[in-house]
Parts: sequence; C-alpha cells; structure tokens
Amino acid sequence: MKKIVFVCLGNICRSPMAEFVMKSLTNKYEIESRATSSWEHGNPIHKGTQGIFQEYQIPYDKHKTSLQIGREDFESFDYIIGMDASNVSDLLQMCPEDVQDKIYSFASESVPDPWYTGDFEETYLRVQQGCQTWLDYLEKEEKNGKD
Ligand code: 4NP
Repeated sequence: MKKIVFVCLGNICRSPMAEFVMKSLTNKYEIESRATSSWEHGNPIHKGTQGIFQEYQIPYDKHKTSLQIGREDFESFDYIIGMDASNVSDLLQMCPEDVQDKIYSFASESVPDPWYTGDFEETYLRVQQGCQTWLDYLEKEEKNGKD
C-alpha cells in the first residue's frame, strides 16, 4: 500500500487537516502527517482545525499530536507532500539526497496558514480541493501501472 505524508510547519493546523480529509475520501492509502519543525511537538490538533472536522463531520483522531518528520519517515513514505512553498523548500533541505524526488507540493499555490490568517474555512476549501486532486492523480498513476 502506498504511503503518503502531509507536512506543514507545526503539524497542528494544515497537515492534520489534509490527513483526515484525505482519509475521509479514500482508504486505499496509508496516510499520516508531520511537521518540519519541533515547535508544537506533542501538542494536539489546533481547535480551529478540530472545529472544521466537527462542522463537516470528518472523522479524526482526537489523540493525534504534533510530530516532526524524521529520518525513517523520509525512507518509508512514498509521497512526502509539503502544504506550502516554504515547507517544500525546508523538506528538500532536510531530506537525504536520494529522497528528493519523493518531495511534492500539495498544490500549485501554497495553502494559507490559518495559524496566521485565522481563516480555517478558507484553508479547508483549499485542502478539500487539493486532496481531491491528489486522489485523482494517485488513482491515475495506479491505472498506468506506476505503483
Ligand atoms: P501549521 O500552522 O503549520 O499549519 O500547523 C502553524 C502552527 C504553529 C506555528 C506556526 C504555524 N507556530 O509558530 O507555532
């Protein structure tokens, strides 16, 4: 089974949102989320993101806490997806050289960080659209025998 990890700065707002939205769309992949930083290490999903899950009835793990991406993650995941342009450039700097081609951008435009904008609804719209686009892409790859 393909392994996918969504990555943002803190792993409390955007990447857990992408993790559980994607899990609500498919059960064909192993899906997790991580932080580029250790700033929020051990902290729960932000209340604003939990509010989105409740509003849109997206099942999620209340016990999930922030975890920084590490060496084993770079080896084990097939798709390592940064939520914004700086997440992607941080990942490219952090990862072993032979892993660089597993680093992707979530969407052509960075997903706004609600930690700064306060707008969790806007972020949710972008995450929902982006996850659907990723799912279509992954299913197409599978059909083409690239899994
Ligand atoms: P996230 O948002 O990267 O979407 O989880 C942030 C969470 C925490 C901080 C920054 C962004 N922080 O500065 O602690």
